[in-house]
Amino acid sequence: VSLREGLLRARAGEADHPAAVAVFSLLAKEHGTPLYVYDAETIREQARALTAAFVPRFPRLKLRYALKANTNVHIVRLLLAEGLSPEVVSEGEIRAALLAGARGADVLFTSSSKSPSEIDFALRHDVLLNVDNLDELAQASAAATRLGTTARVSFRINPGVDPDTLHQINTGIAESKFGVHLDGGIARAAYETATRLPGLSVTGIHCHLGSQITETAGYEETARKMLAFVRELKEELGLRLSFVDLGGGLGIPFRDGESVMSPERLADALKPIWEEEVARLGYEPELWIEPGRFLVAQSGLMVARVNSVKTTPVKTFVNVDAGFNTLLRPAMYGAEHRVRVVGKSTPPMVLDVAGDVCETGDILAADRSLPRPEAGDLVAFLDAGAYGFAMASEYNARPLPAEVLVDGDTARVIRRRGTFEELHRSEPAGATGR
Ligand SMILES: Cc1ncc(COP(=O)(O)O)c(C=O)c1O
Repeated sequence: VSLREGLLRARAGEADHPAAVAVFSLLAKEHGTPLYVYDAETIREQARALTAAFVPRFPRLKLRYALKANTNVHIVRLLLAEGLSPEVVSEGEIRAALLAGARGADVLFTSSSKSPSEIDFALRHDVLLNVDNLDELAQASAAATRLGTTARVSFRINPGVDPDTLHQINTGIAESKFGVHLDGGIARAAYETATRLPGLSVTGIHCHLGSQITETAGYEETARKMLAFVRELKEELGLRLSFVDLGGGLGIPFRDGESVMSPERLADALKPIWEEEVARLGYEPELWIEPGRFLVAQSGLMVARVNSVKTTPVKTFVNVDAGFNTLLRPAMYGAEHRVRVVGKSTPPMVLDVAGDVCETGDILAADRSLPRPEAGDLVAFLDAGAYGFAMASEYNARPLPAEVLVDGDTARVIRRRGTFEELHRSEPAGATGR
């Protein structure tokens, strides 16, 4: 049985198919649970879908991968091999990009709160600083001068556009903490300051509307606003920005049968706006797009084993050996991951899949219609490749799960399971009595 076939069957809702049962049983036996399993080919397919949508429509283009979705170096490497460049939010992510083989000069560093040492580290590696505010700009200028280098900078702009997504992942609205506001001449003043400060080379402009965006309207409005502003910078400050980054945020279907904005639909919607505004501008900057979720979410699933099943006067709970320590999204923002019960075809009933974290809020899936599993059965949570392992913690003193990458007929451990010893690795021996 092909490993990939088992994973694809489960994704397609055929988790009772012998191929799915064989593959999940094998992976769980060899690697234990909870376990993250990624399909390399799905990551390549997503990268190619993005490339196929944008490359023919935008002659000057750079596609990036937002590492925050999944920082495993083996996954980052797959995306670099597809021609994507890294977009990162911390020194740790810069390091992950470098470990995966990226050149520092190809890395874009966006964060609304960069520490002095992160700024230094970025500058030492010629990373492009995507500046969030004027305080940070002054620090970047001082750091570059001190290090005897030139900091390439862009600004993250808050365009004041609502792309209609969950509040917690809506980043381009005026009240969000991110970026320099476009309105009120604030962004213009920021660019003016940047041209005056020493040690800086102003290269481009960036924005990111939010995550899990499923309609094109927000991107269209943003593209118009950003390009009109780029024209203002050219005409009034004589600045010629070399790129316009419209961020990531492309959503994926989280439900069976759901259809969401495809990269073609987005590229199609942006193309006429881009062409019209570029003609007015008089030169063509590079268009940058930087998705995270779109590239890796569907490749990954989290496999857990059922510890027990309990029927209370109110509900039936399926208690599994994973929780919000391994998959935070349901508890953090009510995200819904489809659940597949492996090897069961009994008529569905309404169940809650509960995590093993000692918190009332640790419900991985509420009120789902699923075949009733028994203790020892395996369940898979789909679309967990983005913001899944990346957000995992050791809460409740549970070691981090392992990660396995299925590629063709091989399943390779790309992160071994955490150990109980590691839980205490950084505690001084004296303090723990060891
Ligand atoms: C600046 C920036 N770029 C890209 C992304 C990737 O977003 P997504 O995974 O929704 O594509 C994020 C996510 O929060 C972000 O903050």
